[in-house]
Amino acid sequence: MKSLLKFITCGSVDDGKSTLIGHMLYDAKLLFADQEKALELDSKVGSRGGEIDYSLLLDGLMAEREQGITIDVAYRYFTTDNRSFIVADTPGHEEYTRNMAVGASFADLAIILVDATKGVITQTKRHARICSLMGIKHLVLAVNKMDLIGFDQKRFEEIKEEFKQLTYGFNLESVQVIPVSATEGDNITKKSENTLWYDGLPLLPYLENVDVRKDNQQVNFILPVQRVSRPNHTFRGFQGQVEAGNIAVGEEVITLPSNEKAKVKSILVTDKEAGSASVGQPVTVQLDREVDVSRGCVLTTAENIQVTDMFTATILWMDDTKLVPGRNYLVKVGTKVLPGTVMSIKHKIDINTGEHIPADQIFKNELVECDIALSENMVFDTFENNEALGGLILINRVTNMTSAGGVVEHALRRSTNVVWQDTDITREIRSQQKGQKPLTLWFTGLSGSGKSTLANAVEKRLVSLGHHTMLLDGDNVRHGLNKNLGFKESDRVENIRRISEVAKLMNDAGLITLTSFIAPYESDRKNAREIIGEGYIEIYVSTPLEVCEARDVKGLYMKARAGEIPNFTGISSLYEAPGNSEIEIDTSKYLLEDATDYVIKQMMNYLD
Ligand code: ADX
Repeated sequence: MKSLLKFITCGSVDDGKSTLIGHMLYDAKLLFADQEKALELDSKVGSRGGEIDYSLLLDGLMAEREQGITIDVAYRYFTTDNRSFIVADTPGHEEYTRNMAVGASFADLAIILVDATKGVITQTKRHARICSLMGIKHLVLAVNKMDLIGFDQKRFEEIKEEFKQLTYGFNLESVQVIPVSATEGDNITKKSENTLWYDGLPLLPYLENVDVRKDNQQVNFILPVQRVSRPNHTFRGFQGQVEAGNIAVGEEVITLPSNEKAKVKSILVTDKEAGSASVGQPVTVQLDREVDVSRGCVLTTAENIQVTDMFTATILWMDDTKLVPGRNYLVKVGTKVLPGTVMSIKHKIDINTGEHIPADQIFKNELVECDIALSENMVFDTFENNEALGGLILINRVTNMTSAGGVVEHALRRSTNVVWQDTDITREIRSQQKGQKPLTLWFTGLSGSGKSTLANAVEKRLVSLGHHTMLLDGDNVRHGLNKNLGFKESDRVENIRRISEVAKLMNDAGLITLTSFIAPYESDRKNAREIIGEGYIEIYVSTPLEVCEARDVKGLYMKARAGEIPNFTGISSLYEAPGNSEIEIDTSKYLLEDATDYVIKQMMNYLD
């Protein structure tokens, strides 16, 4: 069987990526006769005055022709006598870093293009660093448009040297720099007469021969479980794709994170019984005993795979909204998805120099090293060892978009040194003793909306009904526990996270907790809902901004309008109105007494 090379091409808009691939296919006679004809016809109206415009060859280029840019990742397949290829063509514009990262995550090798007249530019550095982050170990620098600099060897050597300097320290296994002309065809499939000083292979022969097999090939078996199949009560099979190694019937595997041992009873490859299975195959594995395994767990023969709920990761931020520590995301490693919080930003990494720069927030297209804490244990490996268990993505919990992609660096030891201590007096006992079900009434709304007044009245009513309560109020908590927090986004995120944890502890103590905080961000309220659990009842105090501003009990709106208070919610900082609160009340429409009645009446539904 011919080996397969998966590669991507990266370059800026006019570097000639499409032309390069197009010319390669044309010269290598990898086109159908009708495609060739169409190309010649199309070229009559193309950008090269009747000469063949090879960029016209590639599909999906209609938009590029119209707008001058390529808009998506396009995968193409071709085969020569020596090798099969899949190429992901990714657009060069900075906005499309996300596409490039997606393309890079699948590839073994990247061809980075530079324009010989311009040399190594910021984009080149960005591309090289993203490729390296996504685990690419083999780079080709195609120095294009050599014809425009008269095939100047000295200039070529300078560019080569600069690129080698740039990629030094990227842990690459091969770097090949090739002088080419994508339009004229120099060093694309055949050695060029114009660059006799170049002693390496032309591009296509190089791609046909480069060895991208991994040195430290994982030999241990790894199967991240995608699905548990239970067609009837006698059969329980674990399905997924073998990510590394081999397995045979009778061999012993470890289940993670539950860490149990079991022998393989049967293996199905697709729907056929097989004695063994190996890397890349989709399998169903049946074990000889009951084990605690569900989607996201891993079956393996490796001893060194780790289980942790806290780790350090390097990620490429791709979300339009900035990354703020304390924010909660969905974290996906292998087949497992768990809620996780970016606890702290260690530093950002300058995409050009690799320098570490202190930062407390991260914007789109920035690289960052950060610590992430998960809600439960997750199985992982380093990216070096295993890409499937070492790569991660963060998913925005509100928009469901991928916010970041990256790699796990290492587990944090804190997670294994801190264990949960079970106590004899449980939450249930404490709540029974108080004769009530613990709840958290989470009031959210603008400053001046009446949250605190209403929470105060509701608490009085609950106490008069014999309940045990505790009220946490924004202004008050900020005098003590949260004295060190201000009003910038990251501080508010942390404010709400701490309050969520405290409310949960109060609930554990058996109390009905009332919280009165602006809590302006949807993702933080979602996080609070998760931390607190089923006792969380959100009360959106939806009094309109105009009314809050007219009330201006503390005189803060006036100051904010005068520019004296930065980041004032509703004026110079966002309030994301909730869409799924259990209770909503606009205090401008009710007397306090009636508003209290309404909230009490609504919450009674949740009390028993
Ligand atoms: S939150 O956004 O982090 O939830 P929190 O409820 O704790 O805010 O605090 C809000 C109270 O702080 C307001 O009621 C107001 O009295 C005061 N405050 C001071 N500065 C600001 C500000 N920039 N934005 C909003 N509230 C502020």
